Amino acid sequence: MEKEKVLIEIHTRHARICTCALRKTATRAVWGCGNADADIVFIGEAPGKKEDQQGIPFVGSAGKFLGEMLASIGLARADIYITNIVKYRPPDNRDPLPEEKAACQDWLTDEIRLINPRLIIPLGRHALTYFLPDARISEVHGRLFTQAFPDLGTRSIVPLYHPAAALYNGGLRTTLKEDFLKIPRILKTLNKKAVPEK
Ligand code: URA
Repeated sequence: MEKEKVLIEIHTRHARICTCALRKTATRAVWGCGNADADIVFIGEAPGKKEDQQGIPFVGSAGKFLGEMLASIGLARADIYITNIVKYRPPDNRDPLPEEKAACQDWLTDEIRLINPRLIIPLGRHALTYFLPDARISEVHGRLFTQAFPDLGTRSIVPLYHPAAALYNGGLRTTLKEDFLKIPRILKTLNKKAVPEK
């Protein structure tokens, strides 16, 4: 089956079986979207109000800023894949709880395994600690990490600040823009990784 079709099958299945308690308060599940063959998968925290309304990740102001940074390295949204750790909006945009992240974990795992990107880019603290639990974003942003995971195999990871955090903080904004410019060079050094059988 084509990758796009398998991706839709993954989203449809997890939207049906996901046990995340946020389903009760969210309008809808926000599926990851973009290029099923992408070299880069960006991973945010959880949908906000606009994403919850439209069912598409990063369509608000953080998403607009992300689009500008993608353009700065010659990429469009259609070139990458973007998703969230948690697929349902937390009430009042509060931080997702550990059990909410855990409930959405298999969904994210299936997305990553299918797309098999050369590079994973966690955006912000929540996505970072999902992959590198002991890391601090202020210390690791813009650096390449190679890490083995039981369900994902060995993955290349470059954590970045979350665009929402950088929107209203000039210093972080500059740092995030500079980190973005490192991506093409890092990508060139990476090979496509094989995904282990389940
Ligand atoms: N912030 C996120 O982390 N994800 C979205 O989809 C939107 C804003």
